[in-house]
Amino acid sequence: MTGRSFSRVGVVGLGTMGAGIAEVLARGGLSVVGIEVDRDALERGREHLETSTGRAVKRGRLTEEARREILGRVALSVDFADLGGCDLVVEAVPERLDLKRKVFDQLDRVCRDDAVLATNTSSLPVTDIAAGTGRPAKVVGVHFFNPAPVMKLVEVIATVRTEPDAVARVAELVKGLGKTPVTIGDRAGFVANRLLFGYLNQAAGMLESGHATRDDIDTAMKTGAGLPMGPFALMDLIGLDTCLQVLDAIYAESRDRRHAASPLLRELVTAGLLGRKTGRGFYVHDGAEAPAPAAEAPGGPPPVVGVVGVGPLADAIAALCDRAGSRVRASAAELAGCDLVIEAAEDAEAGRALLSTAAQAVKPGTVLAVTSADGTVIRQAMATGRPADVIGLHLPDPAATATAAPLAEIAATVATAPDVADRAADLAGRLGLTAVRCRDRAGFIVDALRFPYLNDAAAMLGAGYADADSIDAAMTLGCGYPTGPIADLDRLGLDRAVTVLRALHTETRDPALAPDPLLVEHVTAGRPLR
Ligand code: 3HC
Repeated sequence: MTGRSFSRVGVVGLGTMGAGIAEVLARGGLSVVGIEVDRDALERGREHLETSTGRAVKRGRLTEEARREILGRVALSVDFADLGGCDLVVEAVPERLDLKRKVFDQLDRVCRDDAVLATNTSSLPVTDIAAGTGRPAKVVGVHFFNPAPVMKLVEVIATVRTEPDAVARVAELVKGLGKTPVTIGDRAGFVANRLLFGYLNQAAGMLESGHATRDDIDTAMKTGAGLPMGPFALMDLIGLDTCLQVLDAIYAESRDRRHAASPLLRELVTAGLLGRKTGRGFYVHDGAEAPAPAAEAPGGPPPVVGVVGVGPLADAIAALCDRAGSRVRASAAELAGCDLVIEAAEDAEAGRALLSTAAQAVKPGTVLAVTSADGTVIRQAMATGRPADVIGLHLPDPAATATAAPLAEIAATVATAPDVADRAADLAGRLGLTAVRCRDRAGFIVDALRFPYLNDAAAMLGAGYADADSIDAAMTLGCGYPTGPIADLDRLGLDRAVTVLRALHTETRDPALAPDPLLVEHVTAGRPLR
């Protein structure tokens, strides 16, 4: 049996999440009672279960016999009375407090007194749901991640009223299902959504402002930050209505404007374009349009590249050119033959002087690239005397230049000639880089999206809501991030985080983008977070 003292578990609501949870429980060997409001909804729930397990059989992950056994463990019904024999019921109905309260009222009446009642809410306070029942001590949150059969994290939420034994039993059940429980208190967004949704909303704002395209933002976060999906593909997976509900709930608690839902997101939801489940959201999901298609590598010989400035970045760029079979020129006399000249000085003043000198030496048509990504490309460009030829070029992870097709972000200023930005993207492609385009704003795409998220994680740690291990587990196991934010901060460098955040704060004056005091303190002390 999976989990001490739970053997028969009810699931109320068999939408995407409820059906996924029922599957996980049945796979764990438990008897499951799945409840829906009517026969049609029940039929859709059955289809969810059959499709998902059928997919596992097709992939050779499950035998047909095991699939039959799993489906045989799930009894489907439209009658709440069938939950009478359950020792745990998980509610997964739509995110409306009135609806959830109504469901819990019914559960309270039909379930045994000692049964634990759990909600899979992603945005409503568990405390509010518990308060409407006659057994708040036996009400917990169990927050699964989409797709439930795949994602390993389950947040277990204890309210101030929940008895420790109920929490411990649910956490044990989660472990028995092969998942990792992270037990936390009842705050809007819990750990993972609180850290995820500021980032998703900011990405929507970036798109709306015209900073970059949907595909470039998705590609940047996958290629430049190693995420399994870009923000728009992920929002379409989660469901845009759910995204909006989660953002509204977090905003109501935090009053942090980064959680004030982007008007674009709200508009899509009002239009009924909810993502994968309705066939269209940020993407069209009819098989014709795949999220963020990989750009075709541009053809042509490797370009001749001039690198001015010395230091680790200049070395990384030279190594990258070497790998692409590109000839590198460093002396002023040789710059005339270059297709691209990259300023890679460690010091901005020195870089400006070097690029201005280089601008006099190069042939017409040479692209001049500035590597600072703090929203000041335009200043460097003006200093060259030929701003139409200047773009910003940022490699979010220069140390990763040994990996296949690392990301190059190319920023055009208001003065950059349109064909110059096109040529820069083509040259980057010929250097084996994955090029994305954006405007000249602090952090370009990747850093502008990841450092505020990392700052939020530091703030969460500093506020004592969750420890470093729980925060990292939430993002790696709940959202498939390659590493958690606390580990990321130490890897990327706390001083770099503070520098980027200060640039973002200076540009936007958004108080939430000021570096968290914990980061500043660690930088001053010269100590990593762990
Ligand atoms: N249902 C069941 N299984 C699925 C699935 C689904 N919808 N989608 C994928 N899978 C399984 C596949 O069968 C495959 O399993 P296998 O290796 O045993 O054959 C495995 O997942 C990998 O699938 P694919 O190879 O098809 O696809 P990817 O490698 O691209 O992975 C992904 C897909 C697992 C969805 C990955 O892109 C990912 O981790 N994305 C991030 C998802 C995420 O962040 N989820 C959390 C969202 S926030 C949330 O849910 C909270 C809520 O409150 C809003």
